[in-house]
Amino acid sequence: MCGIVGYVGDREAVEFLLEGLSKLEYRGYDSAGIAVYDGSVVRVEKSVGRLASLKEKIEDDMPKGCLGIGHTRWATHGRPSDRNAHPHTDCTGEFVVVHNGIIENYLALKEELIEQGHAFKSETDTEVVAHLLEAVYHGDFEAAVREVLRRIEGSYSLVFMSKKHPDRLICTKKDNPLVIGLGDGENFIASDIPAIIQRTRRTFILNDGEIAVVRKDSVDIMDRQGDPVTKKVFEVNWNAEAAEKGGYEHFMLKEIHEQPKAVRDTMSQRISKDGKEIVLEELKWTPEFLNSFNKIYIVACGTAYHAGLVGKFYIEKLARVMVEVDLASEFRYRNPIVDENTLLIVVSQSGETSDTLAALKESRRLGAKTLALTNVVGSSIAREADQVLYTWAGPEIAVASTKAYTTQLILFFMLALYMAEIKGTQTPERVRELIDLLKKIPAQISETLSDVEPIKTFARKYGFNEDVFYIGRSLDYDVALEGSLKLKEISYIHAEAYAAGELKHGTLALIVEGVPVIALATQKSVYEKTLSNIKEVKARDAVVIGIAAEGDEELQKYVDHVIKVPETDELLIPLLTVVPLQLLAYFAAITRGCDVDKPRNLAKSVTVE
Ligand code: F6R
Repeated sequence: MCGIVGYVGDREAVEFLLEGLSKLEYRGYDSAGIAVYDGSVVRVEKSVGRLASLKEKIEDDMPKGCLGIGHTRWATHGRPSDRNAHPHTDCTGEFVVVHNGIIENYLALKEELIEQGHAFKSETDTEVVAHLLEAVYHGDFEAAVREVLRRIEGSYSLVFMSKKHPDRLICTKKDNPLVIGLGDGENFIASDIPAIIQRTRRTFILNDGEIAVVRKDSVDIMDRQGDPVTKKVFEVNWNAEAAEKGGYEHFMLKEIHEQPKAVRDTMSQRISKDGKEIVLEELKWTPEFLNSFNKIYIVACGTAYHAGLVGKFYIEKLARVMVEVDLASEFRYRNPIVDENTLLIVVSQSGETSDTLAALKESRRLGAKTLALTNVVGSSIAREADQVLYTWAGPEIAVASTKAYTTQLILFFMLALYMAEIKGTQTPERVRELIDLLKKIPAQISETLSDVEPIKTFARKYGFNEDVFYIGRSLDYDVALEGSLKLKEISYIHAEAYAAGELKHGTLALIVEGVPVIALATQKSVYEKTLSNIKEVKARDAVVIGIAAEGDEELQKYVDHVIKVPETDELLIPLLTVVPLQLLAYFAAITRGCDVDKPRNLAKSVTVE
């Protein structure tokens, strides 16, 4: 999981390389490096730490030249260090490579290359690619790259540069993303679109196995055999500002505030004009086919998995079909019972998460039909699945996922309601009622966001506690899981979510005086039971912050503070209750001085196992 960039044109390459890498730091940021060809030598500069360290290192003596590649790293093989940072070179320094992914057979290749006399400088898997290129090069750069690809195994996006061929860069990909930005007399390569939209909106999105030879005036794409491939230009219609912070201090806060729009965009076009039905025109399956499965799995990681838990609740409750939810990293290794009667729904903001992609591929191999819920058009998961429903959340840059989660919930809700319509498990009146309530959600999220001061105050007051517990039942428990993940990942506070009824089976032992407990109590069917659990923690002198719906006058009698969210159906309320939990995590992280958008040890897109 890394970000890579490349430039060929008439301008100083370093300008785009640094700009592009700054937009890709969400993919990893433990070291960075660039290589620029100045007409006589390839100058490689690397630095451990954030891109800022590299910039500082070279600011008084910027590499000159119009051909270059760059990399921001999230370490897999070899700890973060200058030596292990990319780009990597062969023995002569004439072949240079940047890589995102893992070369699985690198040890065998390394041994072979060492026997041939190659000297390695780093502990990385990537360096073998540079040496292998040197070893198989006989004057034809493209042919040598094809030979390298024949020999390496694993996942990669790669950009190759050679002093011997200073008019071009060659790039390729397998299971990791790569886009080419088409300029005027210059071309750009990057792992992701935000890196290039300042320069161009015209792109080629490479598919697995395609190789692109990128010169300043041309891009030639071929397959592994060297046969030409014709590709359509993909026009990016994101607003350039959408990838920037738009006035907020952090991407995360901006993205939390973008939720009303993201949710509205995701639901628009999917409700019939008369407001009576859900229409999912993108689904090319017939309604009968969609309802013919006897088993549904939802598989995802992290926040997307938490959205899947809510998705299960929606589908079971509304469409009365049994659903299993699994973590992608578990699912694929437990020999799941999957066949042609199984529907596998994968959820992924990035569409690139390695475990989710692998679960998807495995299920397809076993005959399942697959549906992806993802935010990134053209992502690996979108391309691999039989059908795709997009969350129209726009680019999510902060590592902590927020608007992706709420839009995933919207999609699950609409899918469940659509299935319910077809099966007749809900009356038309109930469907209509739920659609009416759904349409109000964007405004209700805005209302929830309109006064963040009380949440800021709680964050300041409790932000230095070492442990925080989240409790809830039913859908409140699912949201509690997401709230606790948000807190731990960006504020580094130890946070745990428990099904409130489980407390007395062990966890209650951890509740002592002054421990903050965030108690969600919005689910009417289990309200009284949740109240008893709240009383249990209060009796142990916990400090309880309750989350309730407007109109609830009861909860405040038993807790220390209450945060209220607008009233809606209890199925839809997770879209509102999660918002104060996101804000609480955000302000706690600020209180503790944490780097909100780039929490330690994490990266936005997990493209390795
Ligand atoms: C947490 C977070 C991660 C992701 C997970 C899956 O805030 O962002 O837990 O949800 O890595 O990522 P996607 O959805 O891109 O597959």
